[in-house]
Amino acid sequence: MHRIHLDPANSRGVINRNIFGQFSEHLGRGIYEGIYVGEDSPIPNVNGMRCDVVALLKKISVPVLRWPGGCFADEYHWRDGVGPKENRSRMVNTNWGHVVEDNSFGTHEFLELCRQLGCEPYVNGNVGSGTVREMAEWVEYLNSEGDSTVVRQRWSNGRKDPWGVKFWGVGNESWGCGGNMRPEYYADEFRRFNTYCRDYGEHKLYRIACGADNDNYSWTEVLMKHAARHMDALSFHYYTTYWDANRSATQFGTWEYYRILSLAARIDEFIRGHLAVMDKYDPEHKVDMVVDEWGTWFNVEPGTNPGFMYQQNTMRDAMVAAITLNVFMAHCDRIAMANIAQMVNVVQAMLLTEGDKVVCTPTYHVFDLYKAHQDAQQVACSVDSREIGEAEFRMQQVIASASRKEGIITLTCANLSDCEAAQVQISIADTTKASVTGRILTGKINQYNDFDNAPLTVQPFQTDDIKNGLMTVTLSPCCVVELTIQNDQA
Ligand code: AHR
Repeated sequence: MHRIHLDPANSRGVINRNIFGQFSEHLGRGIYEGIYVGEDSPIPNVNGMRCDVVALLKKISVPVLRWPGGCFADEYHWRDGVGPKENRSRMVNTNWGHVVEDNSFGTHEFLELCRQLGCEPYVNGNVGSGTVREMAEWVEYLNSEGDSTVVRQRWSNGRKDPWGVKFWGVGNESWGCGGNMRPEYYADEFRRFNTYCRDYGEHKLYRIACGADNDNYSWTEVLMKHAARHMDALSFHYYTTYWDANRSATQFGTWEYYRILSLAARIDEFIRGHLAVMDKYDPEHKVDMVVDEWGTWFNVEPGTNPGFMYQQNTMRDAMVAAITLNVFMAHCDRIAMANIAQMVNVVQAMLLTEGDKVVCTPTYHVFDLYKAHQDAQQVACSVDSREIGEAEFRMQQVIASASRKEGIITLTCANLSDCEAAQVQISIADTTKASVTGRILTGKINQYNDFDNAPLTVQPFQTDDIKNGLMTVTLSPCCVVELTIQNDQA
Protein backbone atom coordinates (compact mmCIF):
# COMPACT_ATOMS: atom_id res chain seq x y z
CA MET A 1 0.00 0.00 0.00
CA HIS A 2 1.25 3.50 -0.91
CA ARG A 3 0.26 6.49 1.21
CA ILE A 4 -0.33 10.16 0.42
CA HIS A 5 -1.00 12.63 3.21
CA LEU A 6 -1.99 16.24 2.59
CA ASP A 7 -1.54 19.03 5.11
CA PRO A 8 -3.38 22.14 3.89
CA ALA A 9 -2.06 24.18 6.84
CA ASN A 10 1.42 23.78 5.42
CA SER A 11 2.24 25.47 2.10
CA ARG A 12 5.16 26.88 0.14
CA GLY A 13 2.90 29.59 -1.26
CA VAL A 14 0.93 30.26 -4.39
CA ILE A 15 1.73 28.28 -7.54
CA ASN A 16 2.28 30.87 -10.24
CA ARG A 17 0.06 29.95 -13.16
CA ASN A 18 2.97 30.73 -15.49
CA ILE A 19 4.66 27.51 -14.35
CA PHE A 20 2.31 25.85 -16.86
CA GLY A 21 3.53 28.09 -19.71
CA GLN A 22 4.43 27.29 -23.30
CA PHE A 23 7.14 28.12 -25.83
CA SER A 24 6.84 28.49 -29.62
CA GLU A 25 9.78 29.18 -31.88
CA HIS A 26 10.23 29.81 -35.58
CA LEU A 27 11.35 26.21 -35.91
CA GLY A 28 10.02 23.62 -38.32
CA ARG A 29 6.22 23.59 -38.32
CA GLY A 30 5.98 25.06 -34.83
CA ILE A 31 4.46 28.33 -35.98
CA TYR A 32 3.93 28.12 -39.74
CA GLU A 33 1.39 25.35 -40.48
CA GLY A 34 1.08 24.41 -36.80
CA ILE A 35 -0.44 27.67 -35.58
CA TYR A 36 -0.32 30.25 -38.34
CA VAL A 37 -1.70 29.39 -41.76
CA GLY A 38 -2.45 32.89 -43.02
CA GLU A 39 -5.82 34.47 -43.66
CA ASP A 40 -6.20 32.96 -47.13
CA SER A 41 -5.74 29.37 -46.01
CA PRO A 42 -8.56 26.85 -46.59
CA ILE A 43 -7.93 25.77 -42.98
CA PRO A 44 -10.44 27.70 -40.85
CA ASN A 45 -8.62 30.56 -39.16
CA VAL A 46 -9.10 33.87 -37.43
CA ASN A 47 -6.58 36.45 -38.58
CA GLY A 48 -4.41 33.60 -39.83
CA MET A 49 -4.44 31.53 -36.59
CA ARG A 50 -5.86 28.01 -36.89
CA CYS A 51 -9.22 27.83 -35.12
CA ASP A 52 -8.79 24.14 -34.19
CA VAL A 53 -5.38 24.71 -32.59
CA VAL A 54 -6.42 27.84 -30.71
CA ALA A 55 -9.60 26.15 -29.41
CA LEU A 56 -7.66 23.15 -28.09
CA LEU A 57 -4.98 25.30 -26.47
CA LYS A 58 -7.63 27.44 -24.77
CA LYS A 59 -8.94 24.30 -23.06
CA ILE A 60 -5.65 23.86 -21.19
CA SER A 61 -5.58 27.54 -20.18
CA VAL A 62 -2.18 28.48 -21.57
CA PRO A 63 -1.05 31.23 -19.19
CA VAL A 64 2.04 32.56 -21.00
CA LEU A 65 3.75 32.00 -24.36
CA ARG A 66 7.45 32.57 -25.09
CA TRP A 67 8.50 33.64 -28.60
CA PRO A 68 10.32 33.93 -31.11
CA GLY A 69 13.01 31.52 -29.83
CA GLY A 70 15.14 29.73 -28.72
CA CYS A 71 18.18 29.93 -30.93
CA PHE A 72 16.08 31.76 -33.52
CA ALA A 73 15.66 34.70 -31.12
CA ASP A 74 19.31 35.67 -31.49
CA GLU A 75 19.01 35.85 -35.28
CA TYR A 76 15.63 37.54 -35.30
CA HIS A 77 15.34 41.17 -36.33
CA TRP A 78 11.93 42.40 -35.31
CA ARG A 79 11.65 45.08 -37.99
CA ASP A 80 11.67 42.30 -40.62
CA GLY A 81 8.34 41.12 -39.20
CA VAL A 82 6.24 44.31 -39.09
CA GLY A 83 4.46 46.32 -41.77
CA PRO A 84 2.75 45.15 -44.97
CA LYS A 85 3.48 41.47 -45.50
CA GLU A 86 4.44 41.89 -49.14
CA ASN A 87 7.30 44.18 -48.08
CA ARG A 88 8.65 42.00 -45.30
CA SER A 89 12.22 40.74 -45.58
CA ARG A 90 12.95 37.13 -46.28
CA MET A 91 15.71 35.19 -44.61
CA VAL A 92 16.98 31.64 -44.47
CA ASN A 93 16.46 30.08 -41.07
CA THR A 94 20.02 28.82 -40.63
CA ASN A 95 19.33 27.44 -37.16
CA TRP A 96 16.46 25.25 -38.19
CA GLY A 97 16.42 23.38 -41.48
CA HIS A 98 17.62 26.20 -43.79
CA VAL A 99 14.09 26.96 -44.89
CA VAL A 100 12.89 30.36 -46.04
CA GLU A 101 11.39 32.51 -43.31
CA ASP A 102 9.13 35.07 -44.94
CA ASN A 103 8.43 36.92 -41.70
CA SER A 104 4.67 36.78 -42.26
CA PHE A 105 4.33 35.92 -38.58
CA GLY A 106 5.85 38.81 -36.64
CA THR A 107 5.20 41.01 -33.63
CA HIS A 108 1.58 41.91 -34.44
CA GLU A 109 0.72 38.30 -35.28
CA PHE A 110 2.34 36.99 -32.09
CA LEU A 111 0.39 39.42 -29.96
CA GLU A 112 -2.79 38.56 -31.85
CA LEU A 113 -2.13 34.87 -31.05
CA CYS A 114 -1.71 35.73 -27.37
CA ARG A 115 -4.96 37.69 -27.49
CA GLN A 116 -6.80 34.73 -28.98
CA LEU A 117 -5.30 32.34 -26.41
CA GLY A 118 -5.92 34.77 -23.55
CA CYS A 119 -2.32 34.43 -22.41
CA GLU A 120 0.56 36.75 -21.48
CA PRO A 121 3.27 37.29 -24.09
CA TYR A 122 6.91 36.63 -23.23
CA VAL A 123 9.23 38.10 -25.86
CA ASN A 124 12.86 37.00 -26.08
CA GLY A 125 15.13 39.73 -27.50
CA ASN A 126 18.21 39.34 -29.67
CA VAL A 127 21.59 39.88 -27.99
CA GLY A 128 23.69 37.53 -30.15
CA SER A 129 23.36 39.28 -33.51
CA GLY A 130 21.25 42.31 -32.61
CA THR A 131 22.10 45.76 -31.35
CA VAL A 132 21.21 47.59 -28.19
CA ARG A 133 19.28 50.12 -30.25
CA GLU A 134 17.30 47.41 -32.03
CA MET A 135 16.24 45.83 -28.75
CA ALA A 136 15.49 49.18 -27.12
CA GLU A 137 13.28 50.17 -30.06
CA TRP A 138 11.41 46.89 -29.98
CA VAL A 139 10.44 47.57 -26.37
CA GLU A 140 9.49 51.10 -27.35
CA TYR A 141 7.37 49.79 -30.26
CA LEU A 142 5.59 47.40 -27.93
CA ASN A 143 5.08 49.51 -24.85
CA SER A 144 5.48 53.26 -25.41
CA GLU A 145 2.71 55.83 -25.79
CA GLY A 146 5.09 58.66 -26.68
CA ASP A 147 4.87 60.39 -30.04
CA SER A 148 8.14 59.02 -31.45
CA THR A 149 8.99 57.77 -34.92
CA VAL A 150 9.04 54.19 -33.63
CA VAL A 151 5.61 54.55 -32.05
CA ARG A 152 4.27 56.22 -35.21
CA GLN A 153 5.40 53.12 -37.11
CA ARG A 154 3.25 51.03 -34.81
CA TRP A 155 0.32 53.33 -35.44
CA SER A 156 0.79 53.12 -39.19
CA ASN A 157 0.94 49.34 -38.88
CA GLY A 158 -2.53 49.41 -37.39
CA ARG A 159 -2.00 49.41 -33.64
CA LYS A 160 -2.77 52.54 -31.67
CA ASP A 161 -2.35 51.39 -28.06
CA PRO A 162 0.79 49.85 -26.64
CA TRP A 163 0.46 46.17 -25.84
CA GLY A 164 2.21 46.43 -22.47
CA VAL A 165 4.42 43.38 -22.83
CA LYS A 166 5.81 42.50 -19.42
CA PHE A 167 8.03 39.42 -19.78
CA TRP A 168 11.27 40.29 -21.54
CA GLY A 169 14.17 37.93 -22.21
CA VAL A 170 17.60 39.42 -22.87
CA GLY A 171 19.20 36.80 -25.12
CA ASN A 172 18.79 33.03 -25.25
CA GLU A 173 21.42 30.40 -24.49
CA SER A 174 24.06 33.10 -24.80
CA TRP A 175 26.63 30.46 -23.77
CA GLY A 176 25.76 28.55 -26.97
CA CYS A 177 23.66 29.38 -30.04
CA GLY A 178 23.07 32.88 -28.64
CA GLY A 179 26.66 34.03 -29.15
CA ASN A 180 28.98 31.50 -27.47
CA MET A 181 29.74 34.05 -24.78
CA ARG A 182 31.67 33.60 -21.59
CA PRO A 183 29.55 34.32 -18.50
CA GLU A 184 31.60 37.42 -17.61
CA TYR A 185 31.05 38.82 -21.09
CA TYR A 186 27.34 38.01 -21.14
CA ALA A 187 26.86 39.50 -17.67
CA ASP A 188 28.17 42.81 -19.02
CA GLU A 189 26.15 42.50 -22.22
CA PHE A 190 23.03 41.78 -20.18
CA ARG A 191 23.63 44.90 -18.10
CA ARG A 192 24.19 47.03 -21.21
CA PHE A 193 21.22 45.78 -23.27
CA ASN A 194 18.97 45.78 -20.24
CA THR A 195 19.78 49.41 -19.42
CA TYR A 196 18.09 50.63 -22.59
CA CYS A 197 15.05 48.39 -22.34
CA ARG A 198 12.95 51.08 -20.73
CA ASP A 199 9.85 50.89 -18.61
CA TYR A 200 7.14 52.97 -20.27
CA GLY A 201 4.48 54.44 -18.00
CA GLU A 202 2.69 51.65 -16.19
CA HIS A 203 4.33 49.04 -18.41
CA LYS A 204 7.16 47.75 -16.26
CA LEU A 205 9.30 45.03 -17.75
CA TYR A 206 10.02 41.79 -15.92
CA ARG A 207 13.62 41.26 -17.03
CA ILE A 208 14.79 37.70 -17.58
CA ALA A 209 18.53 37.14 -17.93
CA CYS A 210 19.86 34.15 -19.84
CA GLY A 211 20.72 31.40 -17.40
CA ALA A 212 22.48 28.07 -17.56
CA ASP A 213 21.44 24.63 -18.62
CA ASN A 214 21.90 21.38 -16.71
CA ASP A 215 24.65 21.64 -14.09
CA ASN A 216 26.50 24.70 -15.40
CA TYR A 217 26.63 26.30 -11.96
CA SER A 218 29.58 28.54 -12.81
CA TRP A 219 27.37 30.44 -15.30
CA THR A 220 24.84 31.07 -12.52
CA GLU A 221 27.61 32.09 -10.12
CA VAL A 222 29.01 34.75 -12.46
CA LEU A 223 25.62 36.07 -13.53
CA MET A 224 24.40 36.39 -9.96
CA LYS A 225 27.64 37.98 -8.82
CA HIS A 226 27.75 40.63 -11.53
CA ALA A 227 24.19 41.22 -12.64
CA ALA A 228 21.65 40.00 -10.07
CA ARG A 229 20.51 43.46 -9.10
CA HIS A 230 19.52 44.25 -12.71
CA MET A 231 17.31 41.23 -13.28
CA ASP A 232 13.92 39.96 -12.09
CA ALA A 233 14.68 36.39 -13.04
CA LEU A 234 17.41 34.11 -14.26
CA SER A 235 16.43 31.43 -16.72
CA PHE A 236 17.29 27.73 -16.71
CA HIS A 237 17.02 25.14 -19.48
CA TYR A 238 16.75 21.40 -19.08
CA TYR A 239 15.99 18.83 -21.77
CA THR A 240 15.28 15.23 -20.81
CA THR A 241 17.35 13.23 -23.23
CA TYR A 242 20.49 11.22 -23.83
CA TRP A 243 22.57 11.73 -26.92
CA ASP A 244 22.78 8.13 -28.27
CA ALA A 245 22.06 7.86 -31.99
CA ASN A 246 19.07 5.68 -31.22
CA ARG A 247 16.60 7.86 -29.34
CA SER A 248 13.34 6.88 -30.90
CA ALA A 249 10.31 8.70 -29.54
CA THR A 250 8.14 5.60 -29.90
CA GLN A 251 10.30 2.47 -30.22
CA PHE A 252 11.62 1.76 -26.75
CA GLY A 253 11.40 -0.79 -23.97
CA THR A 254 11.16 -0.55 -20.20
CA TRP A 255 14.90 0.10 -19.81
CA GLU A 256 14.71 3.25 -21.95
CA TYR A 257 11.43 4.17 -20.24
CA TYR A 258 12.98 4.19 -16.78
CA ARG A 259 16.16 5.76 -18.13
CA ILE A 260 14.19 8.76 -19.42
CA LEU A 261 12.04 9.03 -16.28
CA SER A 262 15.11 9.05 -14.05
CA LEU A 263 16.72 11.70 -16.28
CA ALA A 264 13.55 13.79 -16.01
CA ALA A 265 13.67 13.56 -12.22
CA ARG A 266 17.22 14.99 -12.25
CA ILE A 267 15.76 18.42 -12.95
CA ASP A 268 15.11 18.64 -9.20
CA GLU A 269 18.81 18.20 -8.41
CA PHE A 270 19.79 20.89 -10.95
CA ILE A 271 17.13 23.34 -9.78
CA ARG A 272 18.29 22.91 -6.18
CA GLY A 273 21.90 23.39 -7.28
CA HIS A 274 21.20 26.62 -9.16
CA LEU A 275 18.94 27.95 -6.40
CA ALA A 276 21.69 27.34 -3.85
CA VAL A 277 24.08 29.45 -5.93
CA MET A 278 21.42 32.14 -6.40
CA ASP A 279 20.78 32.19 -2.64
CA LYS A 280 24.42 33.05 -1.98
CA TYR A 281 24.07 36.33 -3.83
CA ASP A 282 20.37 36.93 -3.27
CA PRO A 283 19.39 35.72 0.20
CA GLU A 284 16.17 37.74 0.05
CA HIS A 285 15.04 35.88 -3.08
CA LYS A 286 14.48 38.97 -5.20
CA VAL A 287 15.52 37.05 -8.32
CA ASP A 288 13.15 34.32 -9.50
CA MET A 289 14.00 31.24 -11.50
CA VAL A 290 12.30 30.90 -14.91
CA VAL A 291 12.65 27.48 -16.56
CA ASP A 292 11.93 28.79 -20.03
CA GLU A 293 12.80 25.60 -21.92
CA TRP A 294 12.17 22.04 -20.77
CA GLY A 295 10.92 18.78 -22.21
CA THR A 296 11.94 15.55 -23.91
CA TRP A 297 14.15 15.54 -26.99
CA PHE A 298 14.14 12.42 -29.18
CA ASN A 299 14.99 11.55 -32.78
CA VAL A 300 12.72 13.19 -35.34
CA GLU A 301 10.01 11.08 -36.91
CA PRO A 302 11.49 8.99 -39.75
CA GLY A 303 11.42 10.81 -43.08
CA THR A 304 11.02 14.30 -41.59
CA ASN A 305 13.51 17.18 -41.78
CA PRO A 306 16.02 16.71 -38.91
CA GLY A 307 16.10 20.49 -38.48
CA PHE A 308 12.36 20.57 -37.76
CA MET A 309 12.54 18.53 -34.55
CA TYR A 310 9.16 16.92 -35.11
CA GLN A 311 8.77 13.98 -32.72
CA GLN A 312 5.89 11.76 -31.60
CA ASN A 313 4.80 11.89 -28.00
CA THR A 314 3.95 8.80 -25.93
CA MET A 315 2.76 8.05 -22.41
CA ARG A 316 6.47 8.18 -21.51
CA ASP A 317 6.40 11.90 -22.37
CA ALA A 318 3.25 12.26 -20.27
CA MET A 319 5.06 10.80 -17.26
CA VAL A 320 8.02 13.13 -17.86
CA ALA A 321 5.59 16.05 -17.85
CA ALA A 322 4.02 14.87 -14.57
CA ILE A 323 7.43 14.39 -12.92
CA THR A 324 8.59 17.83 -14.07
CA LEU A 325 5.43 19.74 -13.14
CA ASN A 326 5.56 18.13 -9.69
CA VAL A 327 9.11 19.39 -9.25
CA PHE A 328 8.09 22.90 -10.30
CA MET A 329 5.18 22.86 -7.85
CA ALA A 330 7.50 21.74 -5.06
CA HIS A 331 9.66 24.80 -5.82
CA CYS A 332 6.76 27.19 -6.33
CA ASP A 333 8.29 29.66 -3.88
CA ARG A 334 11.21 30.24 -6.30
CA ILE A 335 10.05 29.25 -9.79
CA ALA A 336 7.93 31.99 -11.29
CA MET A 337 7.51 30.61 -14.80
CA ALA A 338 8.28 27.58 -16.94
CA ASN A 339 7.77 27.06 -20.67
CA ILE A 340 7.62 23.60 -22.16
CA ALA A 341 9.40 23.18 -25.50
CA GLN A 342 7.43 23.50 -27.66
CA MET A 343 3.70 24.11 -28.04
CA VAL A 344 2.96 22.64 -31.50
CA ASN A 345 4.88 20.17 -33.73
CA VAL A 346 8.30 20.64 -32.11
CA VAL A 347 9.95 18.37 -29.51
CA GLN A 348 7.58 17.70 -26.57
CA ALA A 349 4.52 19.27 -28.15
CA MET A 350 0.96 19.70 -26.90
CA LEU A 351 -0.45 19.32 -30.39
CA LEU A 352 0.68 17.72 -33.64
CA THR A 353 -0.72 18.81 -36.98
CA GLU A 354 -0.73 17.41 -40.49
CA GLY A 355 -2.50 19.52 -43.10
CA ASP A 356 -5.91 20.31 -41.66
CA LYS A 357 -5.69 17.56 -39.02
CA VAL A 358 -4.69 18.07 -35.43
CA VAL A 359 -4.17 15.63 -32.59
CA CYS A 360 -3.66 16.14 -28.84
CA THR A 361 -0.59 14.44 -27.40
CA PRO A 362 -0.56 12.70 -24.00
CA THR A 363 1.46 15.69 -22.76
CA TYR A 364 -1.46 17.97 -23.67
CA HIS A 365 -3.69 15.86 -21.45
CA VAL A 366 -1.24 16.13 -18.55
CA PHE A 367 -1.41 19.92 -18.81
CA ASP A 368 -5.19 19.56 -18.71
CA LEU A 369 -4.94 17.44 -15.54
CA TYR A 370 -2.69 20.04 -13.87
CA LYS A 371 -4.51 23.21 -14.88
CA ALA A 372 -6.49 23.45 -11.61
CA HIS A 373 -3.18 24.18 -9.85
CA GLN A 374 -2.78 27.49 -11.67
CA ASP A 375 -2.60 30.30 -9.08
CA ALA A 376 -3.72 27.91 -6.32
CA GLN A 377 -2.16 27.67 -2.87
CA GLN A 378 0.31 24.81 -2.80
CA VAL A 379 -0.52 22.16 -0.20
CA ALA A 380 2.20 20.10 1.51
CA CYS A 381 1.95 16.55 0.28
CA SER A 382 3.97 13.65 1.70
CA VAL A 383 4.16 10.46 -0.30
CA ASP A 384 5.19 7.11 1.12
CA SER A 385 5.79 4.81 -1.83
CA ARG A 386 8.03 1.95 -2.86
CA GLU A 387 10.92 2.00 -5.30
CA ILE A 388 10.60 0.72 -8.85
CA GLY A 389 12.64 0.83 -12.05
CA GLU A 390 15.68 -0.80 -13.61
CA ALA A 391 18.92 -1.43 -11.70
CA GLU A 392 20.52 1.93 -12.44
CA PHE A 393 17.30 3.91 -12.81
CA ARG A 394 15.33 3.75 -9.57
CA MET A 395 12.45 5.97 -8.54
CA GLN A 396 9.35 6.20 -6.36
CA GLN A 397 6.39 4.44 -7.92
CA VAL A 398 3.83 7.05 -6.90
CA ILE A 399 4.39 10.81 -7.06
CA ALA A 400 1.91 13.54 -6.16
CA SER A 401 1.28 17.28 -5.85
CA ALA A 402 -1.60 19.18 -4.33
CA SER A 403 -3.05 22.65 -4.09
CA ARG A 404 -6.11 24.45 -2.77
CA LYS A 405 -8.25 27.11 -4.43
CA GLU A 406 -11.61 28.43 -3.25
CA GLY A 407 -11.90 25.66 -0.67
CA ILE A 408 -11.35 22.87 -3.20
CA ILE A 409 -8.26 20.68 -3.00
CA THR A 410 -6.77 19.27 -6.18
CA LEU A 411 -4.46 16.30 -5.85
CA THR A 412 -2.64 15.15 -8.96
CA CYS A 413 -0.81 11.86 -8.69
CA ALA A 414 0.97 9.55 -11.08
CA ASN A 415 1.85 5.89 -11.06
CA LEU A 416 5.20 5.63 -12.86
CA SER A 417 5.26 1.84 -13.04
CA ASP A 418 5.15 0.38 -16.54
CA CYS A 419 3.21 -2.70 -15.38
CA GLU A 420 2.03 -2.62 -11.76
CA ALA A 421 -1.10 -0.98 -10.40
CA ALA A 422 -0.70 0.98 -7.16
CA GLN A 423 -3.15 0.97 -4.28
CA VAL A 424 -2.91 4.36 -2.61
CA GLN A 425 -4.39 5.38 0.73
CA ILE A 426 -5.07 9.11 0.84
CA SER A 427 -5.66 11.24 3.92
CA ILE A 428 -5.95 14.97 4.59
CA ALA A 429 -5.12 16.55 7.94
CA ASP A 430 -8.25 17.39 9.97
CA THR A 431 -10.58 15.98 7.32
CA THR A 432 -12.86 13.07 8.06
CA LYS A 433 -15.37 13.48 5.24
CA ALA A 434 -15.02 14.87 1.71
CA SER A 435 -16.55 14.24 -1.68
CA VAL A 436 -14.14 13.34 -4.43
CA THR A 437 -14.30 13.24 -8.22
CA GLY A 438 -11.52 12.14 -10.52
CA ARG A 439 -10.09 12.16 -14.04
CA ILE A 440 -7.41 9.88 -15.46
CA LEU A 441 -5.01 9.57 -18.39
CA THR A 442 -3.59 6.08 -18.75
CA GLY A 443 -2.05 3.85 -21.40
CA LYS A 444 0.90 1.67 -22.28
CA ILE A 445 4.30 3.31 -21.94
CA ASN A 446 4.88 3.65 -25.69
CA GLN A 447 1.30 4.29 -26.73
CA TYR A 448 0.62 7.54 -28.58
CA ASN A 449 -2.08 9.41 -30.46
CA ASP A 450 -1.90 9.66 -34.21
CA PHE A 451 -4.04 11.42 -36.78
CA ASP A 452 -6.11 8.32 -37.55
CA ASN A 453 -6.21 6.82 -34.10
CA ALA A 454 -6.09 8.77 -30.85
CA PRO A 455 -6.92 6.36 -28.02
CA LEU A 456 -5.30 8.42 -25.25
CA THR A 457 -7.73 10.89 -23.71
CA VAL A 458 -8.73 12.02 -20.25
CA GLN A 459 -11.46 9.79 -18.83
CA PRO A 460 -13.59 9.99 -15.69
CA PHE A 461 -11.94 8.16 -12.81
CA GLN A 462 -14.27 6.27 -10.46
CA THR A 463 -13.41 6.85 -6.84
CA ASP A 464 -14.94 6.64 -3.39
CA ASP A 465 -15.30 9.70 -1.18
CA ILE A 466 -13.18 10.32 1.90
CA LYS A 467 -14.86 8.63 4.86
CA ASN A 468 -13.53 8.31 8.41
CA GLY A 469 -10.51 10.34 7.29
CA LEU A 470 -9.39 8.01 4.51
CA MET A 471 -9.90 6.95 0.94
CA THR A 472 -8.18 4.32 -1.17
CA VAL A 473 -7.69 4.54 -4.91
CA THR A 474 -6.14 2.11 -7.35
CA LEU A 475 -3.90 3.73 -9.92
CA SER A 476 -3.42 1.73 -13.08
CA PRO A 477 0.13 1.35 -14.44
CA CYS A 478 1.48 4.41 -16.23
CA CYS A 479 -1.23 6.91 -15.36
CA VAL A 480 -1.81 10.47 -14.22
CA VAL A 481 -4.89 11.12 -12.08
CA GLU A 482 -6.50 14.34 -10.94
CA LEU A 483 -8.65 14.15 -7.79
CA THR A 484 -10.90 17.07 -6.90
CA ILE A 485 -11.70 17.05 -3.21
CA GLN A 486 -14.48 19.09 -1.66
CA ASN A 487 -14.53 19.10 2.12
CA ASP A 488 -18.05 18.22 3.36
CA GLN A 489 -17.43 19.08 7.01
CA ALA A 490 -17.94 22.82 7.09
O1 AHR B 1 13.84 24.05 -28.30
C1 AHR B 1 14.82 23.87 -29.28
C2 AHR B 1 16.13 24.59 -28.99
O2 AHR B 1 16.73 24.06 -27.84
C3 AHR B 1 16.04 26.06 -28.70
O3 AHR B 1 15.99 26.84 -29.85
C4 AHR B 1 17.31 26.33 -27.96
O4 AHR B 1 17.21 27.42 -27.08
C5 AHR B 1 17.57 25.02 -27.24
O5 AHR B 1 18.88 24.60 -27.36
